[in-house]
Amino acid sequence: MLNLWRTPAKAASYLESEMTTLKVQPILPRFGAEVSGIDLTRPLDEETRQAVLEVQGKWGITVWRNTGLDDDTHIAFSRNFGHLELAPAPGGRPYRHQHRELFDASNLDAEGNINKDELTKLHARGNQIWHTDASFMKLRTSLSMLLCHEAPPVAGETFFADMRSAYEDLPQSMKDRIESLQARHSLWWSRKLGGYPLTDAEVDERGYVLHPLVHVHKPSGRKALYLAAHARDIADMPRDEGAALLKELTEFATRPQYVFAVTYKKGDLVIWDNLCSMHRGGEFDELNHRRDMRRTSVREAGTVAGSDDQFTDLYVNAAISPFEGKR
Ligand code: OGA
Ligand code: MN
Repeated sequence: MLNLWRTPAKAASYLESEMTTLKVQPILPRFGAEVSGIDLTRPLDEETRQAVLEVQGKWGITVWRNTGLDDDTHIAFSRNFGHLELAPAPGGRPYRHQHRELFDASNLDAEGNINKDELTKLHARGNQIWHTDASFMKLRTSLSMLLCHEAPPVAGETFFADMRSAYEDLPQSMKDRIESLQARHSLWWSRKLGGYPLTDAEVDERGYVLHPLVHVHKPSGRKALYLAAHARDIADMPRDEGAALLKELTEFATRPQYVFAVTYKKGDLVIWDNLCSMHRGGEFDELNHRRDMRRTSVREAGTVAGSDDQFTDLYVNAAISPFEGKR
């Protein structure tokens, strides 16, 4: 248990100091924790916000059960941690949520029925491959905050993998080999891996974003691998060699000792730090069971001058939209 003492801003007397108590229950020895002790539906004071950030930075993934959050309070809570991304506009389709800050990770259509549209399903299936959110963007997502509104009766977990411990456990020869390499990321590559009908050339045409394969995770000061299903190959390396290296690292970093699963009930919130973890959605009976998950996404840097809607820009600039049901 972590006890954090908070002194009121206008402390009349030291006797009035209050205590913010976060209960922290580790899931793996160095990765993931169930946290409780504060009401996420209410505004956070600065000390409590810092306490949440501290726990988040240390554990990488935090799980908050039965939060009582709804769309509005989910968004309000998320805003404490930075600029929120706006979800891509689903071209030609009705939008499921009135809040653009909510990314829809459900298997439901705009009417709230189980989605039967093949292309949209294939697009969503990309989430079931190990990835980090928005690695295909220059400015990535730092914290993702996924709230369960409706869980399937069985399965439908999310799996998380520890990119800091995995990095630390690599043989020194591998650390030396990858220290200054950059991976090339594309959203369309991971959609292709998920079965979405794109050719190799079509993926290439849409371009790539480069990110270092190894970086320092600032909140903890620990080094981490930065991998994702969106990473296709390595800059300045033959494609096959780069892809094989990414595969090898991904297999290493997703071995059982680095991985745990979160099983959901309505109201549960998981916050993951994309810059020190990977995640993937677990399989479930997506044709018969409803699963309604909604995500807010904090960008790794603040607002961007000129465009605050980098996801819509990405889809508009690509020749196709996965939401239009055509190609
Ligand atoms: C996401 C995601 C997985 C899941 O929302 O970014 O990958 O289990 N979700 O819904
Ligand atoms: Mn994701």
